[in-house]
Amino acid sequence: MAQVEIVCEPRFINSHSFRTTMSKFATGVAVLTSLHEGQRFGMTINSLTSVSLDPHQILVCLNQGSATGNAIRSSGRFAVNLLDRDQQDVARSFVGRDAKRFDCTACTTSVAGLPLVEGALAYLVCRVSDILPSGDHDIVIGDVVECWQRDGEPLVFYSGAYGSFESDALRLRACGTSA
Ligand SMILES: Cc1cc2nc3c(=O)[nH]c(=O)nc-3n(C[C@H](O)[C@H](O)[C@H](O)COP(=O)(O)O)c2cc1C
Repeated sequence: MAQVEIVCEPRFINSHSFRTTMSKFATGVAVLTSLHEGQRFGMTINSLTSVSLDPHQILVCLNQGSATGNAIRSSGRFAVNLLDRDQQDVARSFVGRDAKRFDCTACTTSVAGLPLVEGALAYLVCRVSDILPSGDHDIVIGDVVECWQRDGEPLVFYSGAYGSFESDALRLRACGTSA
C-alpha cells in the first residue's frame, strides 16, 4: 500500500501550510461584481460553490475587509463572472489595492444593472440571501436570479498559478483515440 506522507502535523499548521495545502485544490476563477450608489466594485475570487438546487443558491467567502464585500452587503446584490481561459489579465486586474479593475475591463450590464465582464464563460446574478461571519471571512449566500453560460474552456487556479483545463475526452479525441 502507498505510504501517505504527512506534511503538516496538527501542531505545525500555520497560515503558510494551510494556504499551500488548500492551493492543491484546483478551482475556476471568477470576478465578483457589485454596484452600490452608482459605483462599480469588483474582485477576483475562487471561493465559489453551489449550495442548493431548490432554491438556486451559491456561496462565496469574502475577506471581511473587502470593499466589494461591503458593497454587496449594502446593495444586497452581486454578479459572478466565470472567467474564460484567455482572461488571465482580467483576473489579475481585479486583485490588489492599485488594481485597474473596470478601467481596463470591458463590461456590459445585467437586467438588474450589475456589471458583467465581457468574454466571460458564464454569469450568475444573485440577490443576497444570507451573510454568515466565519473567522476572518463572511460566507455570502446568494439566490440566483439570472444565469447564462456558453461553451468554452475555463481559467483555472492551482498551486498559486493560473492555467487551463483540458478534458481527457478532448485530449483523447485529438490523439484519435476514444475514451
Ligand atoms: C485566484 C484568486 C482568488 C481569490 N479568491 C478570493 C476569495 O474567494 N475571497 C476573497 O475575499 N479574496 C479572494 N482573493 C483576493 C481578492 O481578489 C483581493 O484581495 C482583492 O483585492 C479584493 O478587492 P476589494 O477589497 O477591493 O474588494 C483572490 C485572489 C486571487 C488571485
